[in-house]
Amino acid sequence: MGRKRKILSFGMICILLIALLTGCEAKKQDVTTGKIKIGVTVYDQYDTFMSQLTECFVGLVEDDVEVVVYNASQSQQTQNSQVRKMIEEGCNVICVNLVDRTDPTAVIDAARKNDVPIVFFNRELVEGDIVRWDKLFYVGADAAQSGRMEGELAAAKCRREKSVDKNGDGLIQYVVLEGEAGHQDAVMRTEMSVETLRSKGVEVDKLGYAIANWNRAQAQTKVVQFIEDYGDDLELILANNDDMALGAIDAYEAAGIDREKWPAIFGVDGTDVGLEAVRDDKMCGTVYNDKEGQALAMYRLALILAKGGSIEDLSSDYEITGGKYLRLPYWKVTIDNVHDYLSK
Ligand code: BGC
Repeated sequence: MGRKRKILSFGMICILLIALLTGCEAKKQDVTTGKIKIGVTVYDQYDTFMSQLTECFVGLVEDDVEVVVYNASQSQQTQNSQVRKMIEEGCNVICVNLVDRTDPTAVIDAARKNDVPIVFFNRELVEGDIVRWDKLFYVGADAAQSGRMEGELAAAKCRREKSVDKNGDGLIQYVVLEGEAGHQDAVMRTEMSVETLRSKGVEVDKLGYAIANWNRAQAQTKVVQFIEDYGDDLELILANNDDMALGAIDAYEAAGIDREKWPAIFGVDGTDVGLEAVRDDKMCGTVYNDKEGQALAMYRLALILAKGGSIEDLSSDYEITGGKYLRLPYWKVTIDNVHDYLSK
């Protein structure tokens, strides 16, 4: 997405959010203009990846479509009322980034009662819930693949550069910075990254882990502690996302430790700030979480559903699993190809 379009779409989000915050009632669906109305609710608008994905989505909106975006501020109850409100406001389809992926009942019940299809995205509900109605869908990515790719990036670096093993003991001392407990991406990235490192023949020694909830400041605090506890012994940091990898970098920078003494740090997402850190050789690599692709898939599916079509109408462009899931692939990013992603 070009920078100009990013600014424009960010402006659109601001206008929408201001309208919502100031209590301006969104218009009822305009039957005369026949505009399609899509509602979106995001678990936390301050989450870096989610705000960029929302920007991409809003940037796709055409003239005959209206979008309203709500911030659930990490409260499932708030999100449930937002969904009810969007239904009352005449949304033809609603895209839900669940706050609590194990608690979609109120959202599903309201949607079903009013026959409004739901596209869940990024925070995956459990299979038992998605099969509860035939108008429930999910757009996201393959969580295990992102963990595998992060492990492959780290393994390639450890095998190529002997200097990663700073103490030369033949083992790579590592920690994992984990996202929110119970989030499918945190669980799979943690498991698969380490499993992949091992399967690639890298011998590892786990020093610890910390849950930092996808958050840069929390990750910085945790890494300050790791630096105190392990000092120079820490050789690798596997973060479940870029914001937490950046928090680790912040901790090393704030401690005034020279770059050559840092552990190898990896993230996932390829957010703007994450890519810049790869370009500047602070982060050793990231795994691109295709926000443009996910936003487009959500948008296309939402339009089809609003017009009474079927997810199968997208089968020539996407792999559809179980008649419900669209998953976009991830991509590995290092300093060698980061410019292709920075210009997206
Ligand atoms: C992203 C995280 C983000 C989370 C929100 C993940 O896919 O990698 O950066 O915080 O989704 O649900």
